Amino acid sequence: MTRTFAVIGDPIEHSLSPSIHNAAFKALNLDCTYIAYRIPRGELKEGIESLRQIKISGFNVTIPYKIEMMQYLDESSPECKMIGATNTVSNENGRFIGYNTDMDGFLEPIKKRNIGISGEDVLVLGSGGAARAIVAGFAKEKAKKITVANRTIQKAQELSKFASDLGAESDHVALSGIDVSKYKFIINATSVGLKNEPSPIPTDMINSSHVVYDIIYMPMNTDLITQSKKNSATIIYGYEMLLGQATLAFQIWHKTPAPYDTMKKVLLGGF
Ligand code: ATR
Repeated sequence: MTRTFAVIGDPIEHSLSPSIHNAAFKALNLDCTYIAYRIPRGELKEGIESLRQIKISGFNVTIPYKIEMMQYLDESSPECKMIGATNTVSNENGRFIGYNTDMDGFLEPIKKRNIGISGEDVLVLGSGGAARAIVAGFAKEKAKKITVANRTIQKAQELSKFASDLGAESDHVALSGIDVSKYKFIINATSVGLKNEPSPIPTDMINSSHVVYDIIYMPMNTDLITQSKKNSATIIYGYEMLLGQATLAFQIWHKTPAPYDTMKKVLLGGF
C-alpha cells in the first residue's frame, strides 16, 4: 500500500518539501507520496484528526503550527521537548511521535564545513520558532556566548533566558546599533529578506572572520548574503538548512539514508 506523507501549515502552497521528498521517493523507488496540506489557522485539531483518519505515515509541521502541534503528540523526542516545538511527526502504530529536525538540520552545514562552534560568540537575529531551534543548537554545541537581537526586545529577552536555561551564557541587544565585530557567527532568523528587503543589520563591518548564515532560502541570495559575500565572509545558505532538516526527517520515516544529492538538485532547480 502506498504510504502517504504531508507538510501541514498555513500558508503552504509555496512549500518546497513535496518536491524534495517526492524526488527522493522516485530515486529510491519507494511506494510513497508526499503532499502539501493547508490546515486553516484555528483548525489544527480537526486537521490532525483527519490525518489520523487517513492513517498518514508521517508529516512535517511548519508555520504557524510548530509549537501548537506539541499538544497533539502522543510522545516526543528529547530535542522536541527541549525546543518546545516539533517540525516532524511519525505515525508509529497509530501513535503520533514528535521530533525536531530543525536544530540538527541547522547545524549540519556548519559541521560539514568543519567550522567549530565551541567557545565562539554567536549573534542570532530574530526570536521566533526558527530562532529557538537555532539557539538550542548553539547551546548544545557549547558556543561561548549567544547574543539575541530582535525587533521586539521582550521576545529577545525571553529567548536569551531560554538559552541561559539550557546552560549557555547569553544576553540580548536591540536590532539597531549592533557591533558585529564581537561575533564569529551571524545568523539571520528573522523574515527580513524574504521580500528582498535590505539586510536587517549594517553589513559594512562584516569581514572574512565572520560566518554569515541566512536561513531564508527564497531568495537564495538575500541582501545580507550578497553584501557579506562581497566582504569575503564564509556564507551558509538557507537552502542548506532546509535540506538538512528534510534529510533528517526522511531518515526518521524511512530508516534509510536520504538521497541528499537528488534532494539538493530538485531544490536548486526549483529556484
Ligand atoms: P519563524 O517561525 O520563521 O521564526 P516567526 O515566529 O514569525 O517565524 O518569527 C519571525 C521573526 O522575524 C521575528 O523575530 C520577528 O520579529 P518580532 O518578534 O519583532 O516580530 C522578525 N521580523 C519580522 N519582520 C521583521 C521586520 N520587518 N523587521 C525586523 N524583524 C522582523
